[in-house]
Formats: sequence, C-alpha cells, structure tokens
Amino acid sequence: MANVLVTGATGFTGQYVVRRLVEAGHRVTAFVREGSRRTPLEGLAEGFVVGNLDDSRSLGQALEGRDALVNVASLGFGHAQAIVDAVDRAGIGRAIYFSTTSLFTTLPAATKSVRQQAEDVVRGSTVPWTIVRPTMIYGDPGDRNLIKLIRWVDRWKVVPVFGPGTYRLQPVHADDLAQAVVAALGCEVAAGQAYNLSGGTALSYNELVDLIGELLGRRPRRVHLPVSVSLIAVDLARRIPLAPRFSREQVLRLNEDKTFSHEEAARDLGYRPITLREGLAREVAMHREGAG
Ligand SMILES: NC(=O)c1ccc[n+]([C@@H]2O[C@H](COP(=O)([O-])OP(=O)(O)OC[C@H]3O[C@@H](n4cnc5c(N)ncnc54)[C@H](OP(=O)(O)O)[C@@H]3O)[C@@H](O)[C@H]2O)c1
Repeated sequence: MANVLVTGATGFTGQYVVRRLVEAGHRVTAFVREGSRRTPLEGLAEGFVVGNLDDSRSLGQALEGRDALVNVASLGFGHAQAIVDAVDRAGIGRAIYFSTTSLFTTLPAATKSVRQQAEDVVRGSTVPWTIVRPTMIYGDPGDRNLIKLIRWVDRWKVVPVFGPGTYRLQPVHADDLAQAVVAALGCEVAAGQAYNLSGGTALSYNELVDLIGELLGRRPRRVHLPVSVSLIAVDLARRIPLAPRFSREQVLRLNEDKTFSHEEAARDLGYRPITLREGLAREVAMHREGAG
C-alpha cells in the first residue's frame, strides 16, 4: 500500500478521494494551505503538510518520502509546471492529475489553452502519470453544481432554461472519480494515459430538470429563453444584489454537447459510474435532510 500525498484534499472531490484511498489501505497525507478547513479530513488523513501550490518548494518538501501524488487541485491556475517539476525532482513512483473535459469545449474559453498546456506539461513528466478528466462533478449539497438546480426546483415552480435545453450533459458523481483514482494508482496500464471520466447517464438539460423535479416530487415548468436574451439576462443579473449569478460562458456551454465516452476508463480501470438517477436521489435526500 502506498504513502500518498493528496493536493486539493479539502475540496469537494478531494474529500471523496481521500476517503476511498484510506479505505483501500493507502496512507494519506493532505497538502493543505495555511487556513484550509481541515475538519472534514480529520480522522481520515494520516497527516497534514502545510504548503501552497504557488510555492513549488513547499510541494517538493511535502513529496519527500512519498510513493505517489494525487493532484486533485486544479491545473487551471497555471501551477502545472511547478507541480510537475517538484514531482520529477522528488522522483516518486506515480502521479495522478485531475484535468477536465471542458478542455474539449468548442468555445474560445480563456481557460482552454491553460488546461491544454497543463496536460502537455504532465505528459512531459519523467514520473509515470495518469490524467483523469471529469465532466461536471456532483454528489452532495457541497457540489456547487447540481445542488443549485435542486434548490431552485425545490423552491420555484418556473425554471428558466438558457436556450432549447436539448444539448446533453453527463455529470459524474465524485465518489466514482475517487474510485477511478484508486484504480489508476494500482494499474500499470494506466501510466501514460488520460481518461475522460463521465457519469453513468447522458441526458439533456430539459430531462435533467424533469428528473430533479420527479425526485423532489415537484412539477417544474421550464421556460426557455433564447441564448441572446439569456446573455443579456446574466449581464443584468450581475447588477442586481442577491440575483443568481451565471457567467456568459456557462450559458454558452449549456448550448454545446458535453457528453464524453468513458470506454477507455471502463476497459483499463473497471470504471462503472452510477446512474444519475441513483446519484441524484442520494443528493436530493441529503438536501432534504439539510433543509428539514
Ligand atoms: N467541480 C467540477 O465540476 C469540475 C469539473 C471538471 C474538473 N474539475 C477538476 O476537478 C478537481 C476537483 O474539483 P473540485 O471542484 O472538487 O475542487 P474544489 O472543491 O474547488 O477544491 C479545490 C481544492 O484545491 C485547493 N487549492 C486551491 N488552490 C491551492 C493552492 N494554491 N495551493 C494548494 N491547494 C490549493 C483548495 O484548498 P483550500 O481548502 O485551501 O481552498 C481545495 O482543497 C479540480 O482539479 C478541478 O479543476 C472540477
């Protein structure tokens, strides 16, 4: 069993990853920032090392004596080169890096080239690497994604949909990602590979709204706004205190296909994500408990 350093361990997905690594018998140390909220990891992680990915040396020191790194923290902030340099210098046995399927967006998103460069840097590492690319992550009311829609549908009868709502998406449960990470760590074939990790169900945004309504016992009425009107609406909303915040990019991304095959992960990692109905039912139940 490996001695694993996990970055981003205090984040939403990181907590699932730490739990699954510990369950699999690995010894986990969390690389945390000064002031990070460690409480969710207490009793799980064997220890904490304080550092910051802005400071490559702190990561290098934290990697001393480790067998592996699981870098859950985002590669989208320009840290990739510093992380990979620290990993290569430390000469650990294995590294897993989180990327994102948003890399494949057809939009001219500013983050796209940063993400692509980050993956290129990882591919140049001398330490056996695996890249995992989640789609939109959900799992419990901490997810910052589907929980927003769950809360909205629970509260309001009308759901605004930016565009026709027919483009499909494939959200992934954080626990499926965590299991994939554990599998990749112990899988030689996974070294030098990048895997798209999508969820068990691909569906349109309209179907997603309806599914959430069904699980909540509500009948939401979808009101479609043309994309051009939606863009004006999100700009205006930014000027209204307490109005829901959406970015222009979010509106545009709802109007492109966001489904990705996870066939390669199924083949190499035995990846079998749960259905969205199953995962959402759990999240809706947690939402209800929290609200109740
Ligand atoms: N959320 C999604 O839908 C989604 C979709 C596709 C891919 N991804 C990727 O999946 C991964 C996990 O996403 P998430 O949403 O679960 O993450 P998250 O909740 O936003 O957590 C981010 C984590 O990174 C840590 N972190 C941030 N900056 C740091 C720095 N300079 N030094 C050290 N640690 C730092 C944070 O620590 P603190 O506790 O100190 O803040 C936190 O633990 C990320 O790589 C993300 O890009 C996410």
